Amino acid sequence: MPSILPEGDPAPDDGRLPAHVARRVREAESAGAPRTFSLYVHVPFCEVRCGYCDFNTYTAEDLGPGASRSSYAGTVTGELDFAAGVLAASDVPARQLETVFFGGGTPTLLPAADLVGILGRAREVFGLAPGAEVTTEANPDSVTARSLAELAAGGFTRVSFGMQSAVPHVLATLDRTHRPENVPAAVGWARDAGLEVSLDLIYGTPGESLEDWRTTVEAALALRPDHVSAYSLIVEEGTKFGSSVKRGVQADVDPDDQADKYLLAERLLAEAGYRWYEISNWALDPLDEGIHRARHNMAYWRDQDWWGAGPGAHSHLAGVRFWNAKHPAAYAQRLATGVSPSVGREEPDAEARFLERVMLGVRLSEGLETSVLDVAPDGGAQARGEIAAMIAEGLLDGRAALAGRIIPTLQGRLLDDAIVRRLAGF
Ligand SMILES: C[S@@+](CC[C@H](N)C(=O)[O-])C[C@H]1O[C@@H](n2cnc3c(N)ncnc32)[C@H](O)[C@@H]1O
Ligand code: SF4
Repeated sequence: MPSILPEGDPAPDDGRLPAHVARRVREAESAGAPRTFSLYVHVPFCEVRCGYCDFNTYTAEDLGPGASRSSYAGTVTGELDFAAGVLAASDVPARQLETVFFGGGTPTLLPAADLVGILGRAREVFGLAPGAEVTTEANPDSVTARSLAELAAGGFTRVSFGMQSAVPHVLATLDRTHRPENVPAAVGWARDAGLEVSLDLIYGTPGESLEDWRTTVEAALALRPDHVSAYSLIVEEGTKFGSSVKRGVQADVDPDDQADKYLLAERLLAEAGYRWYEISNWALDPLDEGIHRARHNMAYWRDQDWWGAGPGAHSHLAGVRFWNAKHPAAYAQRLATGVSPSVGREEPDAEARFLERVMLGVRLSEGLETSVLDVAPDGGAQARGEIAAMIAEGLLDGRAALAGRIIPTLQGRLLDDAIVRRLAGF
């Protein structure tokens, strides 16, 4: 979750949603393509702030009434009650949660009982759909065999560990607190508890050689996780890492090096039975059955509905987006006084929604329907010309285009920004 909030319009203090949200949810249901509903819970605490990270997270234990680590679970459950009230008052049909995701920050800095308690309240107020996916992010040194067993017993189905690298000097550059050996231990405990496991990796850290990256991918694969996310290191302005790069103290990332590492990751992952389904995400799915994908993230990418609880969290309901106060103290204060924690709201216009659809769609292995381009002012003529050119250049899959879908090739996955620009005509 980016830490800078958009501008948008002010959100009403009672959180009430415009009438067309309920109408669109009902229309989708009647059309036989119901909009799915998910919950994101942001936990804004970390033991140490990694130098590269721009997420909305804080290292202080006490951030004020309702915002300290010890009172946080109570504050978030208050938001879940508030959310249920907003949805009912806005006449939005009740829907069970298909997926729940606890992200951070480091959710597992809270006692497992707190996370299970928040999930329990979500189950009470919304209900969990049969087979719901319930994930928490975790740092490898923030869990124990016992805490993971407690999470599994309380209804969690999946854990996503921030492994990042298996190489000590890379972990040190990233300011990570865990040691490489924490990862196999944590993965073993998660498996023993019956949880699915995902590993997050970062490539392209300055000083990381191609061999270091191979070591990392091979170490991750040796643990046979169900899912792997691999992100190129992004230098965020305003972070410790970003200012070191600006001052020339720290080398910048190199896009060519990152491209080589992406290609190596794809090769090693594919050889081991992992299949890409989004540019940065691979699922253990040797028979191409669509299994082990992160269903929560798929809901985001497919433009479904979710409530985002916690400071700075974003929600999306049938085309209306809104977001909470960013600082945990301001967030808690609003809830304590019965005011909606949401401070901003926007409803992207048709052009913005089109662009978003293109940006998300071309990152997915399922791609984007060619018919989406018909809404362009010229009926999609310019974009269709670009599709033909990009097939000839090896950026788009020609067979998929014949079947009416825009799907990037491996080369295209390295240049997805350019594909979006050319399709959107800017
Ligand atoms: C924000 S973290 C939350 C989970 C947990 N605290 C952790 O670090 O693993 C989620 C993922 O975002 C990645 N991330 C954060 N900032 C990033 C950046 N500037 N570039 C690439 N990945 C980043 C993290 O490394 C992590 O894998
Ligand atoms: S532990 Fe995760 S959320 Fe916390 S600062 Fe590091 S990358 Fe960001």
